[in-house]
Amino acid sequence: MALGQDIYDGAGRLLLGRHILLTEEQISNLEFLGFPGVYVDDEFSRGIEIQQIVSPEVRRQALKIVYDLFHTDMRKQEPSEAEFKLRKTVESVVDDVICNGDIMCNIMDIKSYDDYIYYHSIHVGILSVVVGARLGLPHDELCQLAAAALLHDIGKRFIDHDIVRGGKAHRSEEEQEVYRSHPKIGAEYLRETCRFSADVYEGIMEHHECYNGEGYPLGKKGAEIHLFARIIRIADCYDAKVSAFPAQKSLSPSEALEYVMALGDRWFDPDCGCVRKESGGVSDRLRSRTVQRAACGGGTEF
Ligand SMILES: [Fe+2]
Repeated sequence: MALGQDIYDGAGRLLLGRHILLTEEQISNLEFLGFPGVYVDDEFSRGIEIQQIVSPEVRRQALKIVYDLFHTDMRKQEPSEAEFKLRKTVESVVDDVICNGDIMCNIMDIKSYDDYIYYHSIHVGILSVVVGARLGLPHDELCQLAAAALLHDIGKRFIDHDIVRGGKAHRSEEEQEVYRSHPKIGAEYLRETCRFSADVYEGIMEHHECYNGEGYPLGKKGAEIHLFARIIRIADCYDAKVSAFPAQKSLSPSEALEYVMALGDRWFDPDCGCVRKESGGVSDRLRSRTVQRAACGGGTEF
């Protein structure tokens, strides 16, 4: 049985290359690492090329930079290099999504449980840009949105691994409080170390706010919540449902979509969820909480 796709670890390193013939030992190792399945080349898939909205190379680059940012304390080093790489990566993601806008968004990845957070960050980044582009956001705002979405969970790197990994059902009240601090910790960490615009920080800070005000950490509701955060909220929830996360059973894409639609305007901005093409740019109503252009700390493009 030949492998149908390259397999990378969470740091963007190649584990197994496409077309190699899988041995029983390699299959056991993949199972041991928690990979729920792999694409294979067989008589049914021969000649079928899976079109992807973001090229494998851009996705690998994004995976690497997100992994590096989760493992580097930017307060202890010159932030410029990591920030520069991130800016280049988000531009590549946005350009690919704009270029391949008509391709159905296929971002099912094969990943191990331990790498979940890095893949999840990439998926949320890509899905958020797809939604933002469909809503008519201009290029520079899509880049800001991509940066916020790729790093939406960066605050989790400062929280005990067991609390993050355990899932809500296994956390004590105290642990749940700690877990719920990750949007604020992440936004403050990036504000301290990077020169993004205020929109990026707000997108991260508010990505667990609910449209009906039941979210955290600020309890904002409706259009008080930053547009980036409203978009990331939907992408985050959808990807968490389709991904095989250790603490929960994954749903099929159609079941996840039903789940998102069922929660409709309770958790999500219905205008972001419908994802209809806005012909004349983002409507005033949708943008009622405007995307601010003011930069923080002498910031630059996004
Ligand atoms: Fe989060």
